[in-house]
Amino acid sequence: MNMQLRPDGSLRHLITLEHLSRALIERLLDRAQSFVRPLGAPAPVSRALAGCTVANLFTEPSTRTRVSFELAAKRLGADVVNLEVQLSSRIKGESMLDTVFTLQSLHIDALVIRDAEPGVPGTVASHVAPSVSVLSAGEAHIAHPTQGLLDALTVRQHKPRFESLRIAIVGDIRHSRVARSAVHIFRTLGTADLRLVAPPGLMPAPEEFPGCSRHTTLEEGLREADVVMMLRIQSERMAQADLPDAAHYYESYGLTSARLALARPDAIVMHPQPMNRGVEIASEVADGPQSVIRDQVRNGVAVRMAVLDEVLAWRRAG
Ligand code: NCD
Repeated sequence: MNMQLRPDGSLRHLITLEHLSRALIERLLDRAQSFVRPLGAPAPVSRALAGCTVANLFTEPSTRTRVSFELAAKRLGADVVNLEVQLSSRIKGESMLDTVFTLQSLHIDALVIRDAEPGVPGTVASHVAPSVSVLSAGEAHIAHPTQGLLDALTVRQHKPRFESLRIAIVGDIRHSRVARSAVHIFRTLGTADLRLVAPPGLMPAPEEFPGCSRHTTLEEGLREADVVMMLRIQSERMAQADLPDAAHYYESYGLTSARLALARPDAIVMHPQPMNRGVEIASEVADGPQSVIRDQVRNGVAVRMAVLDEVLAWRRAG
């Protein structure tokens, strides 16, 4: 998706990680790493984006992504507007594009969009003025690019040699934008052994995720894995009748300590959250020594700082 890049190769929009070069991804990860601080240390603060305004436009629920985009913008000195979609004119029938044009007239520089409908961030990106950047904060089941970046940053902090990793993605892969963006970025970074582990009903269509191996049991999929990425069942994207029974699901696909022992002893456990403890993951694992789930949240702010800094850098230059 070349519309994401400016003629000089810098990032203008972030809609998907697919087709972004390894060099660009590594530049974003390096920049993000420079913003990471240990817990307890003061967060990095700069005025690099002073005078810029970032708007959060979320029409689907979000805790971590929305808060971390807001913190990221503020820590770089930008102003932030959070549009409460329930209170805004969208419920009076105003179209997404009219809302976007209004924000553009108000001199918004970056629009952060989460929407349940496929295609929305890309459509908005193709309609905004050249001075406006669009960042996807989650597009239907299609893509969640900043989540992919923070997942890769988290893996890199523990296991920097992506080429040799065995990464197992477990759970509701069919409806997961997190899984799609994860596969795009791990592929680009050189990981060949990517495993999808799911019950048949939650496995993506055969033509999707080319090159990933497919496993219907944890026992098979977790063997010798270096990274285990657990996913929530996306009940909001499924008909009630298709929802797996939680207790039954946990019995076969819940990540317990006993099952985690099938992976490598130094394997890391990830989850984008929100977590359903006792459904896809046991508390003993989520809070256990191999879990990097809280690091993922911390890295989320750093990654969003790096992305905002990249797409708005031209403002500083001018
Ligand atoms: C994910 C999402 O919204 O796609 N959450 C997140 O952004 N960290 C995963 C999920 O909702 O299960």
